[in-house]
Amino acid sequence: MSSYNSALYPVEMEINSEVQTIRIRAADILLYTLRDKFGLTGSKSGCDNGDCGSCTILVNRQPMKSCLMLTIEADGKQITTIEGLMNSQVQNIFAQHQAFQCGYCTPGFIMNCEGLRNVHPIADEETIRVWLESNICRCTSYEEIHHAVKDIFTPK
Ligand code: FES
Ligand code: FES
Repeated sequence: MSSYNSALYPVEMEINSEVQTIRIRAADILLYTLRDKFGLTGSKSGCDNGDCGSCTILVNRQPMKSCLMLTIEADGKQITTIEGLMNSQVQNIFAQHQAFQCGYCTPGFIMNCEGLRNVHPIADEETIRVWLESNICRCTSYEEIHHAVKDIFTPK
């Protein structure tokens, strides 16, 4: 076995406000490190190639598809997963609008919306529409999801 494959590298990252250290292989993918090593199974694998958005997390408050990120790239970064947004405003508004059916895509949509709030706190309708193109839902008409997201950005 080559030393490249067997080598482990230390990574320190803040996950949902807790500093975590782990030793990983260079090729380890962040989505699977979060799920398999930290038990954070809210982030889902829908395609493993960056198309569906179900694995979306926040890295330094920006949305990122965790199936496309190496764990080693997360060293020193601040990671937020859906578990870190429990009872958040975005999650509650999705629930109020019943913006899900099977719910498989929902964590990714919620994370992406939280990221949108971080990047564009006053997003207009066109910005919301384009932003949501990075997430796929296989169950709904998207109508409920769009209602929920518009509600998030409607001044109260
Ligand atoms: S699993 Fe990452 S984008 Fe589909
Ligand atoms: S609610 Fe099932 S994939 Fe979106």
